[in-house]
Amino acid sequence: MKLAILGGSFNPVHLGHLYLAESALKMGYDRLILVPAYSSPFKPGVRDTSPQDRLDMLAASAPADPCFAVDDCEIRREGVSYTIDTIADIIDRYRPEGKPGLILGDDLAEGFTGWRDYGKIISLADIIIARRISSKSVFFPYPCRQLDNAILDISSRDIRSRIQAGKSWRYLLPEGARFIIEDRGLYGYGQAAAKPAAGARKNPALRAKTATKAEIARIENAVRSLVSPSRFLHSRAVAALAWDLCVRFGQDPGRGYLAGIAHDIAKSMGENELKRFAKKDGKPVSALERKKPSLLHSRAGASLLREYFGITDGEVLAAVRDHTAGSPSMGPLEKIVYIADKIEPTRKNEARRGGADQWPGKAFREDGGRESLDSLFASVLKDTVAYLRFRELDLSEDTRGLLEAVAKMEKAGNL
Ligand SMILES: [Fe+2]
Ligand SMILES: [Fe+2]
Repeated sequence: MKLAILGGSFNPVHLGHLYLAESALKMGYDRLILVPAYSSPFKPGVRDTSPQDRLDMLAASAPADPCFAVDDCEIRREGVSYTIDTIADIIDRYRPEGKPGLILGDDLAEGFTGWRDYGKIISLADIIIARRISSKSVFFPYPCRQLDNAILDISSRDIRSRIQAGKSWRYLLPEGARFIIEDRGLYGYGQAAAKPAAGARKNPALRAKTATKAEIARIENAVRSLVSPSRFLHSRAVAALAWDLCVRFGQDPGRGYLAGIAHDIAKSMGENELKRFAKKDGKPVSALERKKPSLLHSRAGASLLREYFGITDGEVLAAVRDHTAGSPSMGPLEKIVYIADKIEPTRKNEARRGGADQWPGKAFREDGGRESLDSLFASVLKDTVAYLRFRELDLSEDTRGLLEAVAKMEKAGNL
């Protein structure tokens, strides 16, 4: 196997690194090894992230492609990371066919003779000069190959300063690295850019519980692969509206988004699977659910998320479980996801066949942001029930119980 090595600080890894890595692979290598430095001899002062953070970002960004590998030998070795040690180590462990390629940026070519044991490096590896600053081949006094890559105007230093200044940066690097920066607040992320929802700011208890970007992405990718494309777009629209409603009603928007994106995760399950997963919540399958097993997708979805996707946030799970029929004791997050599912703006027009009065989105569109969560929920519930009755569909026990609870609240003047 022919190997090439791309070392660097990867602080953070960005699309330019991956592009360069793939360009080098095209020169006839089978595998490209990305090697993050513990401490670069060229950038000894860079200390704004730990080696572990940089390694984690690489691990989260490595393409799902056997041509790419990440090796943490320099981080395990600690101390100043010298290229000669790494090359010797990699040859020893990987036993490559022929000399490994060593990618060197043209910005470093001139100072190469200052590298530790540079003569040995030349004898052990084939030097590949990559373009970083010059679009022409640079002079290099030893045998080398010149990589004919385009120069992308992306650098880790620029990304770091963009993050600090609250400027746009997210799509300059792979998604995995982006989530780690956001979730861990690296490079000062969050100090200049993030503005928590007004309600969440007021309520410290809500700030403590949130969904990480990495968790949301993990579930979103699972939903993308498990449901149809149109169902996925509906889920995205529910997630976005749940986010907005959380901001409006003082809930954590990340949890709203997570429950919204996940709510229909079991929608494509077959009948037997739906029953098997739904029953894991300990409740029997009702007569109505037996008659219409598709109703079980909300209960089955919550069980699937808990058992197979490790979601432990009880309110997120309840929001998924109750999004179809509701339940008599719903919390704010459950109500928000219920509302968002019924009125998200891309929802098919089928529900409008009952006429504008039966369209559950009517109350939301017309409320002008004045209604409380409970009264908005009550309007959407009543509109949904009116639509179900118009279509002569049965109401579940839970929905009936919920309707009674809402009627009582209205009578008492609490809505
Ligand atoms: Fe659903
Ligand atoms: Fe839905």
